[in-house]
Amino acid sequence: MLHNNIINRDLEFKQLPNEQTNAVLEINSNYLHLNIEQKLDFSKTMWNKKKLSNPNAKIRLATMFSGIGAVEFALKRLKLPTKIIFASDNDKFVKQSYFANYNIAEENWYSDVINIDGNKYKNKIDLLVGGSPCQSFSMIGKRKGFADTRGTLFYEFARVVKESQPKVFIYENVKGLTNHDKGNTFETILATFDELGYKYSHKILNAKNYGMAQHRERIFVVGFLDHSINFDFPEPIELQHTMQDFLEDYIDSKYYLKEKGVKFVTSSKNRKKRYTQINGDIALCQKANQQFNWHGDFIYEQKSKQEFNEFVFDIKEVEEKYYLSEKIKTYVLAGGTKNFKTSTETDLKVARPLLQSMHKMHRAGVDNYVTHNKGRIRKLTPTECLRLMGFGDGFKQVVSDTQMYRQAGNSIVVDVLIAILKQMDISKFGE
Ligand SMILES: C[S@@+](CC[C@H](N)C(=O)[O-])C[C@H]1O[C@@H](n2cnc3c(N)ncnc32)[C@H](O)[C@@H]1O
Repeated sequence: MLHNNIINRDLEFKQLPNEQTNAVLEINSNYLHLNIEQKLDFSKTMWNKKKLSNPNAKIRLATMFSGIGAVEFALKRLKLPTKIIFASDNDKFVKQSYFANYNIAEENWYSDVINIDGNKYKNKIDLLVGGSPCQSFSMIGKRKGFADTRGTLFYEFARVVKESQPKVFIYENVKGLTNHDKGNTFETILATFDELGYKYSHKILNAKNYGMAQHRERIFVVGFLDHSINFDFPEPIELQHTMQDFLEDYIDSKYYLKEKGVKFVTSSKNRKKRYTQINGDIALCQKANQQFNWHGDFIYEQKSKQEFNEFVFDIKEVEEKYYLSEKIKTYVLAGGTKNFKTSTETDLKVARPLLQSMHKMHRAGVDNYVTHNKGRIRKLTPTECLRLMGFGDGFKQVVSDTQMYRQAGNSIVVDVLIAILKQMDISKFGE
């Protein structure tokens, strides 16, 4: 846009008489100058266009509450050599996924963050990342600092930062942490980072603004040991893909809903409340318990003629109560009895006259009925959930579907981490 303006202006002054040209040239040169500066500023903030200054740098990474290693995967996607100093999670299935996907020695794995002695790693970590499960800590009458957080999982993260002194830390959590206990919890977290002597900033980022088709708002705190580092959070970019781009082509029949599920998912109440979404462009936020209920995203697939499947339903855009039950449908569409024959056609091109009494009873050949496209509804597959969290198909799935959904829903969107890492040029903190 700016570029076009500049070109248009250039064309304009070519047509001007000589005496006016100088003045216009001057205006234009200021204008150009301004725009070049603006453009430079713009490119400065455009993290997605940035190149890492040291692409061969080896990043010494440590993670707490590691899950399936979102930051490990981000560094993989950035093609940065990574040395995992340690990782930690107390879930045995998470450990299976982690070990299948990343290179880590058993002695560098901690089953409980409590057992990590950060002093052992002092000045040996470039990047420490952790997202502790959200816990409430009561701050009444306290100074709100490091010592006051003792006994919480956040305390463990702060303790390991203090002991190990990583060059950079990233702390991630749910958006709700910022207003939890009227903001006291978050205030305490920030006061703790103050006490640790890090230069830090925080921001709520939504994954949909960083290239991933998922509404997922999370708070990120990014801290630097070196106070000369100036860090601004990455600017949002336009989303290039919709959720549909992340779907698989061939789906196992186990992912399709049966009648009860279809009724729940298609109910207008659940859709209005945003519990469910069908064929959305941007996925709803994935949850750890996404496999246990019918909340979240669903895919409606129109049935093709030759398709065989036992779970084919009429998919309706309107409330359940407006549908004919099987019993009434048999009666309504029976075609009349004895001498009284009528057309039981549905989906008429021109509707039958609407009668005042139409709410009272169902009369074949009197009321209007429409059938709907036949199709099936399915939930997202674990692979799709992983893709929507930024884990490419290179991620090895070695646990049950149930565990995989849970692990995906608990993770951090890899693309958001990539934006943060590119923005700070993580490669300059490596070796
Ligand atoms: C919200 S998830 C974080 C997932 C991670 N950020 C990822 O990229 O997948 C929190 C994780 O902390 C783990 N956890 C909870 N308590 C823990 C503890 N005491 N020690 C280690 N891990 C713990 C849970 O098993 C869970 O995987």
